Amino acid sequence: MLAAVVSAPEFETPRLRLRPLELADAAAIQELFPDWEVVRYLMATVPWPYPPDGARIYLEQAALPAMARGEEWHWTLRLKSEQQRLIGMISLKQGGDNNRGFWLGAPWHGQGLMSEACEPVTDFWFDTLRQPLLRVPKAAENIASRRISERQGMRVIGTDVREYVSGRLLTEIWEIGAGEWRQRRRS
Ligand SMILES: CC(C)(COP(=O)(O)OP(=O)(O)OC[C@H]1O[C@@H](n2cnc3c(N)ncnc32)[C@H](O)[C@@H]1OP(=O)(O)O)[C@@H](O)C(=O)NCCC(=O)NCCS
Repeated sequence: MLAAVVSAPEFETPRLRLRPLELADAAAIQELFPDWEVVRYLMATVPWPYPPDGARIYLEQAALPAMARGEEWHWTLRLKSEQQRLIGMISLKQGGDNNRGFWLGAPWHGQGLMSEACEPVTDFWFDTLRQPLLRVPKAAENIASRRISERQGMRVIGTDVREYVSGRLLTEIWEIGAGEWRQRRRS
């Protein structure tokens, strides 16, 4: 029997609305995403220089089909105070050690917004998708991203070297288990 596909719901945080990704978001992503401050620490699977139809191709050929298969969950982020403007994305992916990814347009960095977005999305990973572990690799020099993992109670379980848009970089693999996540939420 085929497992039922679990769709991405909408989420709300104090300052953000998270909406499931749709093809209509391609133009706004194309506008914001091809920026060195956004892509430098993303995996080298991101084409760079970014092609003019890069967002549409990624949505049509990778992200939306994976959502339909129930293997990935992607949300676009919008400020509640300006809901027509997409400001970033957060994603979950089943399998492997790259289970959660995120990016925010450069003007919105450093305001605690991604820390906020990570809360309902990580709850969804453990509580709805019933995953036992969340693992994320990140460039050791990506301080903002590491701080999010630290603050969420994750720990480094290994290191290696991976290819990023900016080249080969020392990488830390961060992890947290379902029990630890629930414990943190209670405390
Ligand atoms: C990583 C990213 C999503 C963080 O989002 P953000 O909303 O700016 O992060 P926050 O404001 O929640 O900050 C998280 C922590 O990092 C710190 N921080 C943020 N930017 C920083 C910077 N440039 N240098 C040092 N620390 C920084 C914040 O002070 C905060 O620390 P605190 O929790 O101790 O206060 C954002 O920087 C981004 O989009 N980067 C490009 C894409 C990317 O690298 N994605 C992650 C790939 S693993």
